[in-house]
Amino acid sequence: MNRAIRFGATLLIAAAFALAGPTAQADGHGSKEEKADKPTVLITGANRGLGLEFAKQYAADGWHVIGTARKPERAEDLNALDVEVAQLDVADADSIAALAQSLEGRPIDMLINNAGIFPRAGSIDEVDFDDYMQTLVVNTVGPVRVTRALLPHLRKGDKKTIVNITSRLGSIELTTSGVFYGYRESKAALNMFTKTLAVELQPEGFTCLTVHPGWVQTDMGGANANLTPDESISGMRATIEKLGPADTGTYWSYAGEEVPW
Ligand SMILES: NC(=O)c1ccc[n+]([C@@H]2O[C@H](COP(=O)([O-])OP(=O)(O)OC[C@H]3O[C@@H](n4cnc5c(N)ncnc54)[C@H](OP(=O)(O)O)[C@@H]3O)[C@@H](O)[C@H]2O)c1
Repeated sequence: MNRAIRFGATLLIAAAFALAGPTAQADGHGSKEEKADKPTVLITGANRGLGLEFAKQYAADGWHVIGTARKPERAEDLNALDVEVAQLDVADADSIAALAQSLEGRPIDMLINNAGIFPRAGSIDEVDFDDYMQTLVVNTVGPVRVTRALLPHLRKGDKKTIVNITSRLGSIELTTSGVFYGYRESKAALNMFTKTLAVELQPEGFTCLTVHPGWVQTDMGGANANLTPDESISGMRATIEKLGPADTGTYWSYAGEEVPW
């Protein structure tokens, strides 16, 4: 393209945006309109548990929240919030691609890779290899695929923050019991992904973190867990808030303490 044609094309694009007006980007993306001055957070697995509480708290704090669910039509609690709801199955490459496509051109300030599963293999003899593979697909490959697909959006965002919800059970150093095969490996690999991505994206000013929510009263954590979702999410939000690009590639607990790898 020569310079004159390029200049003409730029003018045409600028004119199209001017005619479309400031809210054109939000059109067609659900009934809850995005405000230009609000930071945007996208949360996976936001229909229940910790993802739902993240959505609740960030929305209450004035963020534009894109909460994803495998079945948005059944996500009553999420739909009841002042958030945008989108379909996403992190184990399905087509679903991830469709989400990225539907958000085309929109900046995302923060991605929270929260969706996860926990098969309870108590000993190596109890390992079910279908469950084992699925755990790696959802807990490890899912966040990698989602992050890659949404990277163009995150690059347009101001905060450039990627938070992977891990577990203390993914810490190699803290492993003192021989149980939970599959889940531990999936979170240890997620931790390594976080670190590797942090190094790659450091020159662009990204903050990539891996955060352990504590043991929390959700379907996954069970009723005996010692933290409520409110306590865990308040702690994780405060921890994320205090960290920036200088802290990229680090592993934290909800209580704001660094966790050994
Ligand atoms: N609760 C704890 O004590 C605890 C401790 C350490 C770490 N964590 C981590 O915290 C995160 C959230 O856990 P939670 O306690 O909120 O669990 P949860 O109550 O079981 O909720 C899990 C969420 O992940 C979603 N999900 C599962 N598979 C998915 C898939 N293929 N695609 C998209 N979404 C999917 C679920 O959606 P559906 O409703 O469609 O299944 C649900 O929204 C997980 O990564 C977990 O490993 C939790």
